[in-house]
Amino acid sequence: MLMNRRPRRNRQTEVIRNMVQETSLSLNDFIYPLFIIEGQNQRIEVKSMPGINRFSIDTLLEEIHTCVELGVKAFAPFPGIAEQYKDKTATESWNPDGLFPRAIREIKKNFPQVALFTDIAMDPYSSDGHDGIVENGEILNDETLEVLGKMALVQAQAGADVVAPSDMMDGRIGHIRRVLDENGFHKVGIMAYTAKYASAFYGPFRDALDSAPKAGDKKTYQMNYANSREALVEAELDTAEGADYLMVKPALSYLDVIKLLRDNSNLPIAAYNVSGEYAMVKAADQKGWVDGEKIMVETLTSIKRAGADIILSYFAKEYAQYLKK
Ligand code: PBG
Repeated sequence: MLMNRRPRRNRQTEVIRNMVQETSLSLNDFIYPLFIIEGQNQRIEVKSMPGINRFSIDTLLEEIHTCVELGVKAFAPFPGIAEQYKDKTATESWNPDGLFPRAIREIKKNFPQVALFTDIAMDPYSSDGHDGIVENGEILNDETLEVLGKMALVQAQAGADVVAPSDMMDGRIGHIRRVLDENGFHKVGIMAYTAKYASAFYGPFRDALDSAPKAGDKKTYQMNYANSREALVEAELDTAEGADYLMVKPALSYLDVIKLLRDNSNLPIAAYNVSGEYAMVKAADQKGWVDGEKIMVETLTSIKRAGADIILSYFAKEYAQYLKK
């Protein structure tokens, strides 16, 4: 049959397929989230996240060593704080001798070459389990900024390369930028969780850190998942306030939002392939219902294709292992 256009011609052989491939993943794209707890020689698997552990600082260093050998270059640590250190204003979050700053110092001492993207939000340290100060059931915005600024400073002093506010308070990027600059930390970057949605996909993460809200939900600060234009409002503000990176979170149900920010910003765009997205793939794989490894590569590639330059993913280590095979 006569046919001028036959798209299948470009799919005929592996060499040609690879040549016309538009998107590829690289280990340069990944940030690997890690969970830290107090103690020694701890390596406790998160039940809803097979393959992901909560580490004490000593075993965390071993884990980072393994990851670095595999080619993972950037990490996003999150602390699990013991209940007795939690209070309403998250004072433990700016204790320079607390678990998190100690872990940051140890990581940077042992692996000065890795990039550390450290989390700023009150929830792991808050007795209310919220990202802001709670008063009569309300989340106070401007009072919370004070805490976030102190947290950012302590993390910068400990050696963070980039601080990553995940709290969704108004004005946080500007406030944190000011605090960092006033204290001489103009080199420390800010990765803004720009479009962070109020999502059910965070469930396994909250189990891992024991950080679920004690009352209410996060809908007065995290975004409504029905909205995408609102992500542009957040992006404009974060950019004007001094963000170095914009992030969309979660990733897979929000590929359109990743694309929207990519098309409307010249800043690097990150996407957070969150705990629930990881858990769903692992669960279906364990049941033998899907090929988890293939789904891993396909979903990670789709996040990049949508426009993400950077992917935070619990699959980062497994993807690096997959590349070695
Ligand atoms: C909280 C925070 C959350 C995640 C990262 N930082 C959970 C939340 O907002 O309740 C979720 C990450 C994941 O699910 O993998 N500041």
